[in-house]
Amino acid sequence: MNKFPEGFLWGGATAANQCEGGFSEGGRGLANVDLIPQGSLRREVMNGDRIMLDFEAGFYYPAKHAIDFYHTYKEDIKLFAQMGFKTFRLSIAWSRIFPKGDEETPNEDGLMFYENVFKECKKYGIEPLVTITHFDCPVHLTQTYGAWKNRKMVTFYERLVRVLFTRYKGLVKYWLTFNEINMIMHAPFMAAGLVFEAHEDVMQAKYQAVHHQFVASALATKIGREIDPENKIGCMLAAGQYYPYTSNPEDVFEAHLKNRDNLFFVDVQARGEYPSYALKEMKRLGITLDIHEGDEALLRENTVDFISFSYYSSRTASVDPQLQGSTSGNIFASVKNPYLKASEWGWQIDPLGFRYTMNVLYERYQKPLFVVENGLGAHDEICEDGTINDDYRIEYLKEHIKAMRDAIELDGVDVMGYTSWGCIDLVSASTGEMKKRYGFIYVDLDNQGNGTGKRIKKKSFDWYRDVIASNGAIL
Ligand code: BG6
Repeated sequence: MNKFPEGFLWGGATAANQCEGGFSEGGRGLANVDLIPQGSLRREVMNGDRIMLDFEAGFYYPAKHAIDFYHTYKEDIKLFAQMGFKTFRLSIAWSRIFPKGDEETPNEDGLMFYENVFKECKKYGIEPLVTITHFDCPVHLTQTYGAWKNRKMVTFYERLVRVLFTRYKGLVKYWLTFNEINMIMHAPFMAAGLVFEAHEDVMQAKYQAVHHQFVASALATKIGREIDPENKIGCMLAAGQYYPYTSNPEDVFEAHLKNRDNLFFVDVQARGEYPSYALKEMKRLGITLDIHEGDEALLRENTVDFISFSYYSSRTASVDPQLQGSTSGNIFASVKNPYLKASEWGWQIDPLGFRYTMNVLYERYQKPLFVVENGLGAHDEICEDGTINDDYRIEYLKEHIKAMRDAIELDGVDVMGYTSWGCIDLVSASTGEMKKRYGFIYVDLDNQGNGTGKRIKKKSFDWYRDVIASNGAIL
């Protein structure tokens, strides 16, 4: 095979908080994701250890203006159309629709903004792929209810999804309930609006919050299908299989345990019940979940249609304490793999690990996969003649697309589509920088948000256009 399956959904992916800006426009309320500053405190705030529920003097908050997609969406979508995108992944800023999160009535300006965005996509035959929440949580919900620790969040989320499914019926068909649902364990404020008091049982709080998200996700799946049987609703995992560092059985088992910690989320969302190992683990940790009557049936009866995931890198596990955290990666650090090269930010590059990850997910769940994030964050230089020669990005993407082709062709994995991350440069989630660029389209802004905001096509722009036009035959 040198082409991808007919109807394969090629495109690119973004998230509201990393590109929209317009943080106080159109009646939008403040959200957790607005309040994560650049700089040395960023990680503590993301983790919910340093509580920051309002803007504080002396900090720079990159999400406030981001790349101003709120105003430039027409121009940006036109560029995506020039690359031939079949799909465009974007997320809804919850606080545009319900500024505080607990209102009864949605904010029409916010609804209209996304309606316009979807219509703009449709104008070019681009199918929107919508993440209902990409880490967003209106900050009022954290302040008043403790965010996802509280069962009431299920009701607020239900209200949100009912509004979205109803309003965008016929405009949107592909939905993801929570971006990288497993991120709640690693960056709980950024991923779910959770903050912690000293002496709080953090693990108990996180698992309870996860349960609420599972229930909310299953409910959304149910409601989405009722409102429009054409809807396809998926879960989303920060994926990347762990390898054992050595063949020492202890390393092998450590890798197994770490893989299980991630797959736990999809086990519930795709198989419809808590796996036995998770129940045992929670018991060991002294965690008791508040599970309401009807939750188990809801989870069982409303499993996802497909499994979407992000993949940037494989990970490596070892029991050797000296090796822990020796390389960085997508939020959670792991052990450095001596066989792999890494990006400028230390994320290891492993296309075969991508094929391996796809195999594991497909064998385990037997549901279609959707690759909704993959890409290389790199510094880009503008040459004197104004061009940007990002061959390193083309190389990374080419090797990963080949690996995906092998997974489809040689291993029989069912893949619905591929949206590369940050198809237009946007603010980095882990560092808050602009200079960590993923795009086919350069955005002229620096780390402090200075610049013209002008969009410039990189070399990879034409390359990706040819990939899509040839349905993957030309790489
Ligand atoms: C994923 C997120 O974790 O990785 C994105 O879903 C994020 O929001 C992406 O931007 C890449 O990470 P980073 O830290 O390079 O922006």
